[in-house]
Amino acid sequence: MGQIENAITMEVIIRKAVPSDAKPVASVLNSVILEARYTALTNTFTAEEERDFIKGLCPRSAMFVAEVGNQIVGIQVIEPDGLARYTDSMQHVATIGTWIDANFRGHQIGRSLAEASFTFAKTENFEKVSIQVLADNTRALRFYGNLGFEQIGVAKKHVKFEDRFCDVFYLEKFLTDGS
Ligand SMILES: CC(C)(COP(=O)(O)OP(=O)(O)OC[C@H]1O[C@@H](n2cnc3c(N)ncnc32)[C@H](O)[C@@H]1OP(=O)(O)O)[C@@H](O)C(=O)NCCC(=O)NCCS
Repeated sequence: MGQIENAITMEVIIRKAVPSDAKPVASVLNSVILEARYTALTNTFTAEEERDFIKGLCPRSAMFVAEVGNQIVGIQVIEPDGLARYTDSMQHVATIGTWIDANFRGHQIGRSLAEASFTFAKTENFEKVSIQVLADNTRALRFYGNLGFEQIGVAKKHVKFEDRFCDVFYLEKFLTDGS
């Protein structure tokens, strides 16, 4: 039986990341970065950098991890919009990012992480979540669409890889409309 079939029958545990998760968290994140298709991130992270990131999360930020059989297979980070550090007027906006190990995609692990993130976001009084997705990342667009995100615009050639430009779709979801 392959790894994917095992994953289907295994329980998925969602919990907040702690600094000692840094190595497996970096491993999942780096595996997606090295696929070079789904994220604007181009440089991998060391375990030390990831440990510092987890330690440095502010009280209104969280990293959730998905564990299957004691292995971290997915992560999601929710944090205040970057501009919120400069103004009180954007404290209601959060951003998220999701990275699932390629062997564990399509099993609702992303959805389970998002449920934890949305619950956390509501507790922290965020009213909307926004995200940028590479325009050709059809799986992510469908994933976020299924979660209630609406596409609100496109930034043309917003990402420049060594060999190509990519457009970026802006998506948002309001947490205050009963969804
Ligand atoms: C996008 C991603 C986070 C989704 O997580 P996931 O655990 O695979 O998602 P789920 O199983 O909860 O939901 C998968 C949904 O994606 C869609 N999907 C699944 N496989 C797909 C495929 N091959 N092509 C297009 N859409 C697909 C389906 O709509 C599915 O939902 P549904 O079957 O309930 O309708 C994950 O695939 C991933 O980490 N991809 C690489 C990194 C990435 O793109 N991150 C987001 C960047 S902004």
